[in-house]
Amino acid sequence: MTALVRSEGIYLFDEEGNRYMDGISSWYTTVYGHRHPHIVDAMKHQLDQLDQVVFSGFTHEPAVLLSEKLAALLPVGQQKLFFSDNGSTAVEIGIKMALQYFHNQGQPKTVLMALNDGFHGDTFGAMSVSGLSVYNGPFEAHLMQVERIEVPRQDNIQGLIDHLEARLSDRPDVAGFIYEPLVQGAAAMQMHEAEHLDQILAVLRKHGVLLIADEVMTGFGKTGTLWASDQLQVKPDIMCLSKALTAGALPMAVTTCTQQIYDAFYSDHTAHGLFHGHTYTAHPLACAAATAALDLAVDPEVVQRRKNIEVMQAAYATKRAGHPQVARIRAKGVIMALDLAVEIPRYGSFRDTMYRWFMDRGLSIRPLGATLYLMPPFITTAEELQQMHDLFDQFLDEIPQLM
Ligand SMILES: Cc1ncc(COP(=O)(O)O)c(C=O)c1O
Repeated sequence: MTALVRSEGIYLFDEEGNRYMDGISSWYTTVYGHRHPHIVDAMKHQLDQLDQVVFSGFTHEPAVLLSEKLAALLPVGQQKLFFSDNGSTAVEIGIKMALQYFHNQGQPKTVLMALNDGFHGDTFGAMSVSGLSVYNGPFEAHLMQVERIEVPRQDNIQGLIDHLEARLSDRPDVAGFIYEPLVQGAAAMQMHEAEHLDQILAVLRKHGVLLIADEVMTGFGKTGTLWASDQLQVKPDIMCLSKALTAGALPMAVTTCTQQIYDAFYSDHTAHGLFHGHTYTAHPLACAAATAALDLAVDPEVVQRRKNIEVMQAAYATKRAGHPQVARIRAKGVIMALDLAVEIPRYGSFRDTMYRWFMDRGLSIRPLGATLYLMPPFITTAEELQQMHDLFDQFLDEIPQLM
């Protein structure tokens, strides 16, 4: 365990004075680097104005500004925002929105669908829709029933379409389908083609299933566009956002939805409301941080630096394909992931050896079993990214001796 005392830009500093490059943007949050001055200034300014206040019966400028700014950038149709605290709560709210949308209209749709191997968080609803059973074992008996489908690929797409057509025609009881668009993060950065996901989404939409895009990981530019959903033809009904929303400055999440979904809750019947409210909902400091982070998300210079990283990551993936120690390598946006050509348990001593090997050389990454990946902050320079790639190369050379 390393005790950190300071962070700046892409670097983390420990109490012994060691410096580490943050190769995974602190779990996909600090995409503009740590303590970015624009975000820090916005938070300091906000701290002098208004701190925590109950977001019920009250509203405030930071929340309004953030809502307006974010709504203008969301995929077509996403118009309404619901605040919460983290990715898991964003997902819980997305699930509740889908289920209650039909409940409010007296329609008996109670089933949820999800992709195999998805990860959507650690609360019960989020665990239920997650397909990575490694995390859910002790709780299986308490989880909601969820129907899972395979991740769409060239070789299974027709079978999947046929399955969904038959299933949904037979029983129109599916309320929502949740998916991590284009990249399944915790499943070890598994990537699928927009074209195939689109085909699945089109069938689901045709049958009236609400589409819940979990962009908690993919959002805010990581896949090459502001939202992974921007690369899809079929747009979501509901979106879950967190992580880079505040660029890691404070915990915050937003679940967004279309006007159509919002309208199903807007009613004189109190019971039609979405009864979900966390204490720290729309915390003014987090709103200020998120608004400042959005400035950076669309800043042409930041976008250009992100694009430079995308090019280098793609080039590295091309260069290392076919390496004897690499079974598979892929890149999407700033994300580059390689699967080692050896079986390594997700958790275990060799995983820890790999982690330590990189930390000892000044790079913080978190191997997912045999998968090593980089998702560097967008401000990473070409020289810094080259250092990360050089370390990956050195590791690939040394791995036979380490095993
Ligand atoms: C796609 C996705 N959804 C939801 C979550 C849960 O987010 P949190 O850890 O903030 O609860 C994660 C976390 O990694 C995630 O990757």
